[in-house]
Amino acid sequence: MHPEAAGAGPSDSAGIDPTRLPRHVACVMDGNGRWAAARGLPRTEGHAAGEEALFDTVEGAVDLGLGWLTVFAFSTENWRRPADEVRYLMGFNESLLVRRRDELHEHNVRVRFIGRRDRRVPRRVVRRMDETLELTAGNTGMTLTIAFNYGGRAELVDAVRSIVAAGVAPERVTERTVARHLYDPEMPDPDLMIRTSGEHRISNFFLWELAYSELVFTDVLWPDFRRQHLFDAIREFQRRERRFGGVG
Ligand code: IPE
Ligand code: IPE
Ligand code: MG
Repeated sequence: MHPEAAGAGPSDSAGIDPTRLPRHVACVMDGNGRWAAARGLPRTEGHAAGEEALFDTVEGAVDLGLGWLTVFAFSTENWRRPADEVRYLMGFNESLLVRRRDELHEHNVRVRFIGRRDRRVPRRVVRRMDETLELTAGNTGMTLTIAFNYGGRAELVDAVRSIVAAGVAPERVTERTVARHLYDPEMPDPDLMIRTSGEHRISNFFLWELAYSELVFTDVLWPDFRRQHLFDAIREFQRRERRFGGVG
């Protein structure tokens, strides 16, 4: 629990039923470029401003007692961006881990990464990821998963490769087999997916895992996102009736 949570902070999580929290919230952090453009700034300034949004959201999630939070930081398609922006994002994510990992560790957050570690991801970024992973591996609070060079289709391709490599007979492949070969077999499917910036699409985020997630779209641009927007989305989630194909 975040130490300040015990104080008389704003009760902006009011109305959230703590017994019916989503077990896993996934977030597509979108709109950094538009946030910057609206201020006449380069796109990279939008990414920089997204850091505060991320850490306020993480702290809010920790205070609330969420078990799993996943954020989409860089997609397998984001390599299509101008080289300068890609280079900035690699360096930014690396330095963010260096600057923030102790703070995450103090919050008892367990940090994990999903995505492809292909040759395009600079070695030093991979090293920071491993260091952060190791530092926080024993933590028992929230699991923060950072989806980096992640694509839903790539994950399914990698799962199929790993199933084939394991020599599993075709008739033995079940949904559980596939789930066990995803990047993090321990991760529960997201109950709630939030996408910022008014875009109503998945953009190759969790394809398998979103099968029955509740989707919440907000026009807020990622750099303006704060814990209260997370709380709003959770209140919206708690108003929904999930049926999973059955009857109410
Ligand atoms: C999200 O913001 C950050 C990443 C995808 C890395 P964008 O950079 O996509 O911002 P917009 O969508 O162009 O405004
Ligand atoms: C999705 O946002 C990827 C991340 C937030 C990391 P994009 O901005 O890349 O998605 P599109 O291009 O609008 O679909
Ligand atoms: Mg975008």
